[in-house]
Amino acid sequence: MMKLSPYLGRASEFLIINSGRSSCLSSRSALLARHGSTTSGRSAAGPQDANDMNTSPKSSAADMNPTSTRHTYIPRRAMMYIPGDDAKKIAKIPTLIVDCPVLECEDGVALNRKEEARQLIHKTLETADWVKERKTRGLDVAVRINSFQSGLADQDLQSLLSAKTLPTTLLIPKIEGKEELRHTAHILTEKLAGRAGRDPLRLILYIESAKALLSMRKLLKTALKVADESHNLLALDGVVFGSDDYCADIGANRSNEAKEVLFARQYFLTVVKSFQRSLQAIDLVHIDFKDLDDLRRQSEEGARFGFTGKQVIHPAQVDVVQQAYSPAPDKLKWAQEVVEAFTRHQKEGKGAFNFRNAMIDRPLLLQAENIVAYAKLIGQPQR
Ligand code: COA
Ligand code: MG
Repeated sequence: MMKLSPYLGRASEFLIINSGRSSCLSSRSALLARHGSTTSGRSAAGPQDANDMNTSPKSSAADMNPTSTRHTYIPRRAMMYIPGDDAKKIAKIPTLIVDCPVLECEDGVALNRKEEARQLIHKTLETADWVKERKTRGLDVAVRINSFQSGLADQDLQSLLSAKTLPTTLLIPKIEGKEELRHTAHILTEKLAGRAGRDPLRLILYIESAKALLSMRKLLKTALKVADESHNLLALDGVVFGSDDYCADIGANRSNEAKEVLFARQYFLTVVKSFQRSLQAIDLVHIDFKDLDDLRRQSEEGARFGFTGKQVIHPAQVDVVQQAYSPAPDKLKWAQEVVEAFTRHQKEGKGAFNFRNAMIDRPLLLQAENIVAYAKLIGQPQR
């Protein structure tokens, strides 16, 4: 029996609006596509410059509708941290083919280097050519701030939001309560006011403790609500499982096999996928960065579980992870043939049929459709 990997739950709901190495999907288009019509969307690289904040908002009914979700989908197969105080490592970013480079302010930066990191990230956003280029091409540029419990997040945000060019995505670690989410949304929406009609600032949250895991559904509901109420200034794109902080929180010893977080990863994934939105679920870090074979095993496992991407700490890990989170060519071919065969058999009045000695019925079709849609999403060549 062929093993299946639903790379992206409900991916088939989405209509691709951009092609290229890293394509983007419009979830508003997706809703229309589901109802049989199509529309074109905008580039994910919507202007996010502070300079743009003063341009008159081009409000439309969609802008004013709190349930409107017209932002595009940005794949994040590998989410790579680059310490924000390390100019040499930051200079490497344009040489990397990575879905999501993260300028890191949190645990990858020593406590006595936070101010250096803030200043260097600010300068990088304003002056680096690669930032401009990635944004123009609809590719991600992310920044991770410190947690609110650390007492450093407000300063991080102040520095970040005063940059002329904002990141595409803001990563917020160690979310524990609804108040933090409301507080963040308040600061962000005040600062971003006047940008209605532009591509929203994407948010990605971290679940890193037992308490947060158990309140995760409530936290995500609140996060989606505050994003909806922001009139498209903010969008919740995904959630990260912060495995090492989680292990510290529950008193576990971390292993590469990651048995100690198996339940947590699967519970995390179930909660993320329980939302009828294309929220991304980003899997744990493989800290043993020299062991690429084990990284491959762990990444393929994450993709099989239904995660949409993985955190990465070293350039050598990027390719392995991005490959693991892309359908293998034979699997893609299989999926395309299943979709065609299903259509033929439906016309003949057969709900279930024999396909290369395996039973195919509607749930298998849906899994095959996920694979085909996801391959298009990441710009994988189609036959
Ligand atoms: N981003 C960009 N470049 C990186 C990098 C990263 N995250 N990690 C390593 N490199 C570069 C190094 O600077 C080095 O460049 P060089 O050949 O020009 O000297 C090259 O890749 C090889 O690096 P290597 O010597 O193997 O590793 P290292 O000892 O320099 O760094 C780590 C190892 C783990 C400290 C480093 O990978 C790192 O800082 N990762 C991110 C840590 C982080 O942010 N953690 C928090 C989130 S979990
Ligand atoms: Mg952490």
